[in-house]
Amino acid sequence: AAATAFRRRLHAWFKKHSRDLPWRQTRDPYRILVSELMLQQTQVSRVLDFYRRFLDRFPDLYSLADARPKKVMEAWEGLGYYARARNLHALAKHVTTEQDGVIPSEPIALRELPGVGAYTAGAVASFAYEKRAALVDTNVARVLQRVFAPHLHPKSGPGLKQLWLIAEQLLPRTGKTTWTHNQALMELGALVCTARVPRCGICPVKAGCATFPLLEAAERDAAEPE
Ligand code: ADE
Repeated sequence: AAATAFRRRLHAWFKKHSRDLPWRQTRDPYRILVSELMLQQTQVSRVLDFYRRFLDRFPDLYSLADARPKKVMEAWEGLGYYARARNLHALAKHVTTEQDGVIPSEPIALRELPGVGAYTAGAVASFAYEKRAALVDTNVARVLQRVFAPHLHPKSGPGLKQLWLIAEQLLPRTGKTTWTHNQALMELGALVCTARVPRCGICPVKAGCATFPLLEAAERDAAEPE
């Protein structure tokens, strides 16, 4: 029941307030994969230009697979964390030569690819293939921890494992709705449930949030010292 209300409020908010981002306009697994790899360690505002330029140079998996390593590195230049680019290049070669150019759709198969961890596997499965797959990155971990597990340590190993279980239990019934659900969780973490100063006043799920009353009480205490 709590999960249903949470989803309904979150999805309604997303439809009204989400940003129009290029990787939300496509279901092409290659384009989704490139966006998610870039976004893992780099802010949206920085990724936008690199994303457009990278896809201009390498519009599909085959053009990337055929490129010289130096050209791939040049296209990634400025984004940092170059292992991401090397892994992406290796992935393109592998998928084009061994898998007929088809990026897998199930998280378990995606995880076999170079540079693809649990988060990226969930992102490609749910965003490109609209599979009913969970994902947890830093933003989503923070949202779920605050709303459902206020006493959990979100960055510890066991804490993270618990948050993946919560994310899975929270998934909507269908893959089609999972696309919106996962995008909305990330968007809430990016725009409202931010790390240092969350904007609880405008939060669509504050009514069901375990942390909101604690923050409110703390603010009240700060405003009215004894
Ligand atoms: N960060 C990682 N994936 C994202 C997405 N799909 N939209 C916005 N920010 C993201």
